[in-house]
Amino acid sequence: MSGQPLTYLTTPIYYLNGNPHIGHAYTSIAADVLARWKRVSGAEVFFLTGTDEHGQKVERAASEAGMAPEAFTDALAGEFKAMAADLGISNDDFMRTTEERHKRACAALWTRLAEGGHIYLGHYEGWYAIRDEAFYGPDEIEERNGQRVAIASGAPVEWTREPSYFFRLSAWTDRLLAFYESTPDFIAPSSSRSEVLSFVRAGLKDLSISRTSFRWGVPVPGDADHVMYVWLDALTNYITALGYPDLDAPRWKFWPADVHFVGKEITRFHCVYWPAFLMAADLPPPRRVFANGWLTIEGEKMSKSLGNGIDPRVLIAEFGLDALRYYLLREVPFGNDGDFSRRALISRLNSELANDLGNLAQRSLSLIQRNCDGRLPDLTPPTDADRELLSAVEGLPSGVGDALDRQAFGEALERIWVVVRLGNAWIDAQKPWSLKKTDPERMSAVLRSLHTALRGLATVLQPFMPDTMAAMLDQLGVGQGDRSLASLATPVPDGTVLPAPTPLFRKVEVAA
Ligand code: ME8
Ligand code: MG
Repeated sequence: MSGQPLTYLTTPIYYLNGNPHIGHAYTSIAADVLARWKRVSGAEVFFLTGTDEHGQKVERAASEAGMAPEAFTDALAGEFKAMAADLGISNDDFMRTTEERHKRACAALWTRLAEGGHIYLGHYEGWYAIRDEAFYGPDEIEERNGQRVAIASGAPVEWTREPSYFFRLSAWTDRLLAFYESTPDFIAPSSSRSEVLSFVRAGLKDLSISRTSFRWGVPVPGDADHVMYVWLDALTNYITALGYPDLDAPRWKFWPADVHFVGKEITRFHCVYWPAFLMAADLPPPRRVFANGWLTIEGEKMSKSLGNGIDPRVLIAEFGLDALRYYLLREVPFGNDGDFSRRALISRLNSELANDLGNLAQRSLSLIQRNCDGRLPDLTPPTDADRELLSAVEGLPSGVGDALDRQAFGEALERIWVVVRLGNAWIDAQKPWSLKKTDPERMSAVLRSLHTALRGLATVLQPFMPDTMAAMLDQLGVGQGDRSLASLATPVPDGTVLPAPTPLFRKVEVAA
């Protein structure tokens, strides 16, 4: 027993029907920041991402590429793994739904549901949208430009009639409503919660969970004519990775998930179907599903046909990974829809990262280099002025943690920037550069307080900007083992030799 709190976080597993783009990066980066935050907070974290490889949508993409689905998914899964690495995603595992362990988990869950009497064989007749891999009721579709589409997503729907196994979802309406009632934090933000509640309140129909019209899926146990509905298959990934069906597997201790990060278009699957499947299998539902809003690109919907789904690698090459991570979580309150704009990214990089934070660090550390022989000045009892800065810094771990526990990433960054701005105002008021001759002791104390503040800032910013904050902590002389929130209680030793500082951020010219 380690006694550490356990945290299990997931991203959606992305469909392999195209290359990764900034929308996928957005959700993955948010989840990664929370995973890293929980680790610096001392939790034992399991963080999962992966790829959703079965179903008609992927099968169709493979055939359009003139490839067998196996070869196609192998190639594209590589792209998504590379994206995770390029974005600095600190996942502990990467689930591909075509893996054997996953097919075993799906078969076991299916068998469990069947044995519990939750599944029956019938016929599905109704609308299906391949783009969403979703069934829609007659009240959920409309005609647009002569085409029948799902109202919610605009995806074209097709009339489908085929033999199908059903999950008795209708039996779960009241239990799901009771569950939402007793766990008000289960769905966030509240817009997503309202949407899910009204969908369930309208009464649930049994859910088709198998298909016979194509083959690219996990076979239904005992009936080779059927493959499992891709969403039953996909959702199961969250327990496959923990060793399901082996509840003695070492990773099983992480269930239930603390937060499933998803986009707002897939809350129905995560907040209705998934807890119902789990409860029917006698497994606890996840603790929370957080739905991020949709990002547009320069005001336009991201889409394959527009070809504007920006490759995150292009942005990383141009602005640096950490500026991208910072911008994505800073610009739009997490949960709201928002826009990705190069101009806004550049503006935040230049003003908040390079000017506010970068210059505060550079000014303070250069003064220590020049005026203190590159050695950390001794700790001395703080004056009232020091306390004004230091107490703001000391409040950051709990303030940031409180915001991140609500997935309020932008609020967490704003709390940090309040202190960054205070630091800049403070250094201007204290004028350590003018104290060298008049009051060298006070100069040392001021620089030491600035060092303490910078260390606190860099420590809480690590989850957002891992590489740059590692460099900043190096420049501050903070050892690799002293970068957790708990280690903030232990001062860096007096006299520690600090390396010559180098700028943390590179400003970018705004194109006319
Ligand atoms: O839905 N803005 O996969 P998917 C914000 N395989 N987030 C976006 C986005 C945008 N414009 N575009 C994509 C699937 N995302 C299923 C999931 S989980 C068991 C199965 C993000 O490839 C957002 O998180 O369509 C969205 O939910 C996810 O990518 C959808 O990825
Ligand atoms: Mg999608």
